[in-house]
Amino acid sequence: MSPNAPTPPDPFEAGEPTTAELVDGRYRLQLVRGRGAMGHVYEAWDVNLHRRVALKLAAPDAPPSDRERMEVEARAQASIRHRGVPVVHAFGRHDGRPYFVMELVRGPTLLEVITAHLAEGTSIADHRATAIALDVIAAVGAAHTADVLHRDIKAENVIIEAETGRVVLVDFGMATSRDRPVWSTPVGTPIAIAPEIWDGAPPSIASDVYALGCLVYELLTGRAPFAAESIAQIARAHGTRKPIPLGVLAPELAAYDAVLDVALAKDPSARFPTCAAFSAALEAVDPTRPPERAARGSDAIRVLVVEDDPLVARAAMRAATTGLEDAGVSVRWADTGERALRCAASEMPHVLVLDHQLPGWSGAETLSRMRSLPGGEDVAVIIVSGAISGPDEWRFSALGAATRVDKPFAFEDLVAAIRVKARARHWLPGGGSDTSRPPPGRTVIGARVAREPRHEDGRETQRAIPAAAARPSDER
Ligand SMILES: Nc1ncnc2c1ncn2[C@@H]1O[C@H](COP(=O)(O)OP(=O)(O)O)[C@@H](O)[C@H]1O
Ligand SMILES: [Mg+2]
Repeated sequence: MSPNAPTPPDPFEAGEPTTAELVDGRYRLQLVRGRGAMGHVYEAWDVNLHRRVALKLAAPDAPPSDRERMEVEARAQASIRHRGVPVVHAFGRHDGRPYFVMELVRGPTLLEVITAHLAEGTSIADHRATAIALDVIAAVGAAHTADVLHRDIKAENVIIEAETGRVVLVDFGMATSRDRPVWSTPVGTPIAIAPEIWDGAPPSIASDVYALGCLVYELLTGRAPFAAESIAQIARAHGTRKPIPLGVLAPELAAYDAVLDVALAKDPSARFPTCAAFSAALEAVDPTRPPERAARGSDAIRVLVVEDDPLVARAAMRAATTGLEDAGVSVRWADTGERALRCAASEMPHVLVLDHQLPGWSGAETLSRMRSLPGGEDVAVIIVSGAISGPDEWRFSALGAATRVDKPFAFEDLVAAIRVKARARHWLPGGGSDTSRPPPGRTVIGARVAREPRHEDGRETQRAIPAAAARPSDER
């Protein structure tokens, strides 16, 4: 094939042919794929490697700030390794105009997909919408891992690769990285700008999470959470209004509302702290289950044991069964923080028995993620662990987990700690402190080195537990 042989455009690829300009002696421009404020994105032919690439080239009259920005964009994108972000092949200058070359992703943008559905009066099936959303969240998570904030997450910047269905996030033109923070205006697209950004706060993981929330809302419903006549009206809506619940727009989508409430929280600290937490919660949504049942579950007290040592896990599970048998109990076990989060996202436990030294996420990291899931604030936590460093002790304390049973522990001490928690929350009769001994004749696990909870009634030091959340049957 000759280097500049044109390919017949398919419907997704309708772009304007160019004058076949040769950029930097190597890339022959063939089609204009996108026109932006800073420059154009072209489909081009790499005359050395004989392959198609995408090339973003600054406009001839781009001011120096835009030229600098394109360099930041190329570096930010190049630092991310993820199948959902196009690989950057090269950066250079052509007639003094910066350009960069990246993997070509051929297919419609997500905006085009959504618009096509709207035009036909249909919507994307929710399992498909969720799958796309999870892929975009993963790509943004990979950017965050590379210390890059995207800042312009929207359907127009997502391409669905026609041949493979791969979901690809593009346009790091607003991106900031930790070494090179640039957050001049504009700061994103009005339909997806978090309320704190309107108030002048710097961009953050939380503002990207908010934009992802807007995208998920739009994917599921075909409409942005806030639409209005003017930018000022949209800004006010982001700051003060709650979007129409999905369940109101379409009853079958009601199960997603709890997750979107967290992603679109006005307070950035109330949102998912990471993309991983967002995707775990979204993945766990079961659209076939009415939201009430999903949240309340059965009346049994749900205990989740998070412990990588199977022997200790078994002892802890038995302690939970023993301590709560009069109330009815269901016990689950997760051997890593990641699995625990999946468990919690599908059914939030009432009591968490948590090891700190885990492979992967530590106990503290796991708890921090769990707290940010819907209902995660109310979980009663018992840390079962060996040595915990000072900073981690503070972290646990700030996460409302001051009750600790040191390893190796006496079986009765864990039973007692669980009962104290359950009584404090009125799941067991008596309430307040629990001075009774557990049933006799239990095996002792290791030596007896238990530490008392800091408050006699088992309430953690940092977190007031609202009475309404006290009983499982009262929980939402
Ligand atoms: N790697 C790529 N492969 C194919 N098309 C792309 C690629 N990157 C961007 N595009 C197309 O070009 C359009 C504009 O690119 P984008 O980076 O979003 O620039 P802008 O800053 O102008 O919005 C995108 O919406 C997409 O349709
Ligand atoms: Mg764009």
